Amino acid sequence: MSENQATLSADGKTVEMPVRSGTIGPDVVDIRKLYGQTGLFTYDPGFTSTASCDSAITYIDGDEGVLLHRGYPIGQLAEHSSFMEVSYLLLNGELPNQDELAEFTRTISRHTMVHEQLSTFYRGFRRDAHPMAIMCGVVGALSAFYHDSTDIADPQHRKISSHRLIAKMPTIAAMAYKYSVGQPFLYPKNELSYTGNFLRMTFGVPAEEYEVVPEVERAMDRIFILHADHEQNASTSTVRLAGSSGANPFACMAAGIACLWGPAHGGANEAALNMLKEIGTPDKIPHYIERAKDKNDPFRLMGFGHRVYKNYDPRATVMQQTVREVFSALKVNDPLFETALRLEEIALSDPYFIEKKLFPNVDFYSGIILSAIGFPTTMFTVLFALARTVGWVAQWNEMISDPGQKIGRPRQLYTGPTQRDYIPLNQR
Ligand code: ACO
Repeated sequence: MSENQATLSADGKTVEMPVRSGTIGPDVVDIRKLYGQTGLFTYDPGFTSTASCDSAITYIDGDEGVLLHRGYPIGQLAEHSSFMEVSYLLLNGELPNQDELAEFTRTISRHTMVHEQLSTFYRGFRRDAHPMAIMCGVVGALSAFYHDSTDIADPQHRKISSHRLIAKMPTIAAMAYKYSVGQPFLYPKNELSYTGNFLRMTFGVPAEEYEVVPEVERAMDRIFILHADHEQNASTSTVRLAGSSGANPFACMAAGIACLWGPAHGGANEAALNMLKEIGTPDKIPHYIERAKDKNDPFRLMGFGHRVYKNYDPRATVMQQTVREVFSALKVNDPLFETALRLEEIALSDPYFIEKKLFPNVDFYSGIILSAIGFPTTMFTVLFALARTVGWVAQWNEMISDPGQKIGRPRQLYTGPTQRDYIPLNQR
């Protein structure tokens, strides 16, 4: 292989393929001409070795436990920034100055209400529907309400629909919760912060004033920052793939929400807390560790392991600190936190987890915080979707603005029957 070419020999043919470098991270072999020149496809189920796009938004070094948004480390953003500021950063590439942040925050707060007819749409769901099922339906349905911003070729339409999605998601998520508990929907109150407004729409009632607890608002905002984007993960790739056909952004976000729901992805925060409840007390941990290691047992330690991080997930570090802050602000002390800390300690000293480089991920501690704030487990993934919307929107915009963008269309290794003749029904 020369410095910027990779050579592949197969079937008696040799092909030279360019090697491209990003600003940081592994180089990539550009295989786009491979099929044309050799008749061969590459094979990579799960995309473990495949870069699907150019992107300037988020960088992860999974071995070192590094996560950067537009170059800024997640720890610094979580400590010093706000979700609105991080949203601006993800969308626009740079941190805003004071005027830009004020203008962006004002714009988002002007889009927080949803079409009144949408509340009727909610009433079609069963009261015991999972809120993620409601989110898939309602977010997809936004395309039926906001026709005036679905021309994806128009940058102004894309901007408005992006702002609408970021602004309306807290309202939609809070309404999904209110519907499940049988309380009236609350309209947004734009004098509150993005996160304070969401907390009020979720936990407030029309009968009395709701007071936002600043520490909880800060913790929630930080949780939103930690979930805002994460490079080409399953749901983001789903949004990009759906958007690559030219589908409108509301439909694309609904596709992302559907993908996020799975327990191997966003659903892990719900599964992690359920697992901690099942384990209960620290004395039961060894039994569950043995189960997680047993190949014949489907049980896995939820909130542990990650496709990309082979080191401590930097978001889990911030989450663990945030648990303590929320507990102190709310004067609660959930014994499951002790169980989680002990579980982490035991797992991280076990050769199985050391060899496989399995560390706590962002979801390991988030459920404990969300539960202390008052969210039922079924809402956890909804909160993830709310925060990730800005990442999906930023990635979708980046894709649509890329002049080289093509419809996503993977190929396959066909293993079915070869051609055969149809046999009439009466002869089978
Ligand atoms: N508990 C026990 N063993 C595990 C775990 C776990 N949580 N995670 C991975 N392993 C083992 C696997 O059994 C496998 O063992 P093997 O090599 O002997 O077959 C090895 O570690 C590699 O695991 P894979 O599943 O092949 O790794 P992959 O990168 O495909 O999966 C995933 C990553 C899905 C996150 C996995 O670690 C997992 O299922 N974790 C639990 C669910 C979870 O917490 N998901 C949240 C991810 S973060 C997010 O989406 C925000």
